[in-house]
Amino acid sequence: MSQTLSATKHFYPDANLARELIANYGSPLYVYDAKHLSDNIDRVARSIPYQGTRFAFASVTNGNLALLRKFKAAAWGLHANTPGDAFLGLNAGFLPSDIIYSGSNLTADEMAQMLRWGVATYNLDSISQLELLALVKESVDAPIPRIGFRLNLPDVTGESRIGICPDDLVKADIRARELGLAVTGIHFYRGTSTNATERFVDCLDTVLAVGQRLSQWQYLDFGGGFGFSYYDRKHSFEWEDFGRELTTALHRHKLNLDLIIEPGRSIIAGSAALLCTVVSTKSQGEKKFVGVDTSTANIAVLSVHGGTRQVRCYGHLDEPLHLTDVCGNTTYSRDYLSRSCQLPNLNPGDLLSILDAGAYGYAMSSHFLHRPRLPEVLLENGNHRLIRRRESYDSLVANQADL
Ligand SMILES: Cc1ncc(COP(=O)(O)O)c(C=O)c1O
Repeated sequence: MSQTLSATKHFYPDANLARELIANYGSPLYVYDAKHLSDNIDRVARSIPYQGTRFAFASVTNGNLALLRKFKAAAWGLHANTPGDAFLGLNAGFLPSDIIYSGSNLTADEMAQMLRWGVATYNLDSISQLELLALVKESVDAPIPRIGFRLNLPDVTGESRIGICPDDLVKADIRARELGLAVTGIHFYRGTSTNATERFVDCLDTVLAVGQRLSQWQYLDFGGGFGFSYYDRKHSFEWEDFGRELTTALHRHKLNLDLIIEPGRSIIAGSAALLCTVVSTKSQGEKKFVGVDTSTANIAVLSVHGGTRQVRCYGHLDEPLHLTDVCGNTTYSRDYLSRSCQLPNLNPGDLLSILDAGAYGYAMSSHFLHRPRLPEVLLENGNHRLIRRRESYDSLVANQADL
């Protein structure tokens, strides 16, 4: 196998490897680089000097078992947004005690299931979910869960539907004790894909002051939402600065807490590319349109970061560049993989890597537009292997009842 080109931020395969992968597994596919991911895991894990820090990978971004196991091997926990996240985590070998749930609006059945699985930590987002947890707990033989609340601080984050305000946190604390439980944690999520490190730092004193209103504060879960620079021209989230400031703030407040950090996108986005093939080309005036054999159903470009992303082509060295839209293989009006990028004149059969597909790539892919979902391939120690099979058209009818 040929060498991979593994830039610090954005992994993509070189031309020979790209051709080899397509020849082996077909087009299109997601390709991950294990070394790129493990370097990221190491770098982030070293960035927070605070003793008692535990990292938990937010698997909402990527639920592939082979990749989840990379985090397990690095002694990370798992952050579950849903019972499905927890289920995947358990299947990947995480202990229930390694799984931290922070989500919203669980049904009684879902809560009972999570308790039976032994999921240990629940960051709730309403007092009503606390009432439900207490009720459900009565009928499930499970250890007493560790309970925290997601903080809602509109002055810091802007309006959010998730979490409770500081006064309700105090009410939740009292109510939990009445129910024979204890609220020992707070969870705070500063924002989605925020590259401005100071936004995470400037709110620390506020968050730490609110936490101290709890009668038995034991842990701080400072979320995810850490930025990833899809474009190198923008400034990036600085893990070392953040880790230093967070540690200093915890010491300044003389707090001895368990600290949980649950990165998602920031740790895995850059470790994968969506490799695809050009199937048609055309021009409208100065603008070129390149049609590829994948669609926005496989990479939710608009909803993840606003419309466009970096694309690499192979060959065509030193050829002039043209304003180009890379379009998906449907007539859905928003089916763009990237807009207004600069690419040479491409031809059907050329390969493209759409960068930074590791987070919210496969995880957000769907049967919208009715194409089977793609395979995932992992590069590791000079080899490649399939870590998820390509679906067939059968997947489109698999659960239909009227066949
Ligand atoms: C509570 C929580 N933690 C972590 C994450 C991961 O976010 P990100 O990928 O922006 O780091 C999410 C995403 O939904 C979340 O809701």
